Amino acid sequence: MRTDSKNVVFSPAPPTLEWIGGIDGVLRLLDQTRLPLEETTIDCRTAEDVWEAIRSLRVRGAPAIGVSAAYGVVIGVQSATTANRDAFDASLRRVCEYLATSRPTAVNLFWAIDRMRRTATESPRLDAKAMAERLLTEARAIEAEDRAMCLAIGRNGAELMPSEGGVLTHCNAGGLATAGDGTALAVLFAAHQVGKRIRVYADETRPLLQGARLTTWELIRRGVPTTLICDSMAGQVMKEGCIQAVVVGADRIAANGDAANKIGTYSVAVLARAHDIPFYVAAPSSTFDFSLPSGEAIPIEIRASEEITEGFGRRTAPRGVDAYNPAFDVTPAKLITGIITERGVIRPVNAETVQRLLRSV
Ligand code: MRU
Repeated sequence: MRTDSKNVVFSPAPPTLEWIGGIDGVLRLLDQTRLPLEETTIDCRTAEDVWEAIRSLRVRGAPAIGVSAAYGVVIGVQSATTANRDAFDASLRRVCEYLATSRPTAVNLFWAIDRMRRTATESPRLDAKAMAERLLTEARAIEAEDRAMCLAIGRNGAELMPSEGGVLTHCNAGGLATAGDGTALAVLFAAHQVGKRIRVYADETRPLLQGARLTTWELIRRGVPTTLICDSMAGQVMKEGCIQAVVVGADRIAANGDAANKIGTYSVAVLARAHDIPFYVAAPSSTFDFSLPSGEAIPIEIRASEEITEGFGRRTAPRGVDAYNPAFDVTPAKLITGIITERGVIRPVNAETVQRLLRSV
């Protein structure tokens, strides 16, 4: 049980994601489409269940998508554990290709799937059953590493936060978006824990309201002072002097440090620069895509117009109106004060500094 600053009592929430059982197990997800009103879980028993959960944002946030996909691969080969190794490999190939079509922007999805594929390639002599066990071990390792990365990001970022003042965040880069404490929110949780007197301003994050529904839910449960604002208010609260730093997550970071994150992040970065406020991105090394020289090549997911015109089942625009719904945007490296990773802070942000921190052994 936890109590927030207004003495509301919270019972512990189910974990964001959890593998239940052994090799024949299921992936249990906290259904984030139901938050904050209902804390219900769903059990994914087929690769299709996992694909649907990722596509419809029951599980979301780049690292959580990656971990879920890794378990999705295990689920996808469960029916092939008595087959010969060639048939097992064919089934593995199929499920990897399939899960990779669930969402296009967060590179952690492809990173985790590639890692699972590589695990199989590196053990050509294991039989199907042993290979499935080995894949489950790898998925568990991806989950455990993600938790550790969140903790390190929190530690590395906390010292960059003001000792007192407001910090703005956009979308949800918290425990709901990872297997651990989150990325941007891990920084804020750590800053709060070491006694920094911060207040978090959470953008509501149109159109799917990850900020309003998820970020405030997490912050309040952890007792962090929180103020919810509409996205369009960010400039005004900055002008009023309420914001001393911005920290957001990322879905894919190109080799030069350009960072894709939830739509609206780029506008926040421009506003932060206009008001001379430091703008930080917090992300694990698994979110970097060194195959892309700049953010121009990052694929941006375009989602259904209905998310804008009739989000959450209520029509708010006239029938037949054209709507455009890119789910992410790219913030150029030149607007980013620093990228907080588990290995340290990249600052200033450019191809050379990114390379130096993350590619050196
Ligand atoms: O569409 P979503 O909710 O999956 O978008 C999530 C974000 O944009 C997060 O900020 C990002 O994945 C970082 S999560 C640590």
